Amino acid sequence: MSRLVIVSNRVAVPKARGVSGAQGGMAGALNAALKKTGGLWFGWSGEEAEEPGEPSVGEYDGVTMATIDLSHQEVEEYYNGYANQTLWPLFHYRVDLARFERETGRGYERVNERFADALAPLLKPDDVIWIHDYHLIPLGDALRRRGFENRMGFFLHTPWPASRLFVSLPYHERLVETMLAYDLVGFQNDEWLSSFLHYCRFELKAEVDEDSGRIVSNGRTTIARAYPIGIDYEHFTGLGDTGEAKQAQQRVMSSTRRRITMIGVDRLDYSKGLPERMDGVGRFFDRWPEAVQDLVFIQIAPVSREDVESYKRIRAELEQKTGQINGARSRIDLVPIRYVNQGHSAEELFGIYRASKVGLVTPLRDGMNLVAKEYVAAQDPEDPGVLILSRFAGAAQQLGFEGEGALLVNPHSADEIADCIRQALDMPLDQRKARWERMHANVRDENVQRWTEDFTLALAG
Ligand code: G6P
Repeated sequence: MSRLVIVSNRVAVPKARGVSGAQGGMAGALNAALKKTGGLWFGWSGEEAEEPGEPSVGEYDGVTMATIDLSHQEVEEYYNGYANQTLWPLFHYRVDLARFERETGRGYERVNERFADALAPLLKPDDVIWIHDYHLIPLGDALRRRGFENRMGFFLHTPWPASRLFVSLPYHERLVETMLAYDLVGFQNDEWLSSFLHYCRFELKAEVDEDSGRIVSNGRTTIARAYPIGIDYEHFTGLGDTGEAKQAQQRVMSSTRRRITMIGVDRLDYSKGLPERMDGVGRFFDRWPEAVQDLVFIQIAPVSREDVESYKRIRAELEQKTGQINGARSRIDLVPIRYVNQGHSAEELFGIYRASKVGLVTPLRDGMNLVAKEYVAAQDPEDPGVLILSRFAGAAQQLGFEGEGALLVNPHSADEIADCIRQALDMPLDQRKARWERMHANVRDENVQRWTEDFTLALAG
């Protein structure tokens, strides 16, 4: 069996030797896949250093982890700049927030070349290489130019925008041509896949077979397919038995004093639709003011990418809206919204989800959204909560069931969000159960192990 090599911007280095078995989520599944082949995980250390040195290499439970530091300028141009101020907003349909600077584009390319230079000496001829996400799109091409003919795959964790939007990126052809250096390109769902195939056909004039996802360009063949990512179901549901999960559940239940809890958990990112969600919650309390006695909304939103201006703005906007609603709707002994920036462990999140009878997941655009899946996994089968899910999240394709699974909502409409909250609160138990059972089977079966296996099998060729 060939060795698997994974490359991503962030590398999940286990805290100490031997603990990787306890890791869940995508990191845990990728680590397990790496362990089978004595694999290598390569990426940025997350640290800045002015003098680029050799990769720092460590062995963790049969997996080699290799990381490089980046200079301050590289972090500014590659991570804060092109990746997070150009590609991220554009891929999430926010051309209004995207900055198109030639300098950061060049920095992005230079860092991808640096990754290729640092990785090259660690590679063996029959390694299978799997590169992740928008930070590293041109890396496969950079490796090909250094003579590597290995099987190489790329998976995009974000959406891929419609062609009419994507062409606002200067040098868009150049970026997509580098994607055709891979043997396999994966997307979260059919919508992003079909936008990509459309672009290749009509903008690049490549030969595209929509049914098989086969793209032929400049004599090279790439297969593009959808591989919807899932959660580590066994691991996550296993956390339900921990003291931490039970304690968190208890804390929510006792502090909300018989009110129903509605929960939102998101990185503080404009793609998550948080101010729009607050408008929806505000609209709900405007229409049903007495509901402050029955419902409390807990929004957990750890801050993210704080060096980027648009993230500072979204945080300020969210704080203002939350304060406004709480000011208008609180009573001396009741506050309708608890807004929390502090992050929580997976164990605590399990308990918090379990204690919440409504899950509110309303991104304006999202590649997949695993919070929706974890919320479903954590529910009590005898008394499950209701998931309200944005129709623009990748997960809506799997959990919508044509209106019979999650309550699908347009996250831009405060009225629709308010209506869905009302519907969720009024939903009888038999309907909650029927909806949950469909979603649960999907979350359990289309899990992260299956995703990893499907992608790596197809990549091995
Ligand atoms: C998204 C991206 C990931 C990224 C994560 C956290 O899920 O697809 O690649 O790692 O956000 O963002 P950060 O910038 O903190 O790595």
